Amino acid sequence: MLVIGSDHGGYELKEYLKAYLTEKEIPFVDIGCDGQSCDYPDYARVAVKKILSGECERGILCCGTGIGISIAANKYAGIRAALVSEPVSARLATEHNNANILCLGGRVTGPVLAAACVDAWLGAEFLGGRHAARVQKIEPSAY
Ligand code: RB5
Repeated sequence: MLVIGSDHGGYELKEYLKAYLTEKEIPFVDIGCDGQSCDYPDYARVAVKKILSGECERGILCCGTGIGISIAANKYAGIRAALVSEPVSARLATEHNNANILCLGGRVTGPVLAAACVDAWLGAEFLGGRHAARVQKIEPSAY
């Protein structure tokens, strides 16, 4: 199960991606927003909690640039949020970084390109090995 969320800056992209996921029969839970002016850290927190609790495996978060919501999500141990704007990075976010959240900017990345990023991220597999050792070093417990 995916969790998907946004602030107002990423709302239109979130709605587009919801339709895309529905068409592809990929299950998701939408945590908002509903388009109203709001604060991206609040939506990052709700999405993160769903992942850390095990209710959802991965998440997609959108804000205007993707920057704020990715910074917010990455404050939580166990979260690896990757801000991407093209599919090669999206694929590598899974293959190398085992990113459990994909972040996109609704005001800077077009919807078709964003959907291609989602496809690339979901379609890839974490490669493990040396990448697993590096990912392990990101966890606060390793600092
Ligand atoms: C909201 O205006 C905007 O600041 C937000 O969506 C995001 O781009 C922040 O990083």
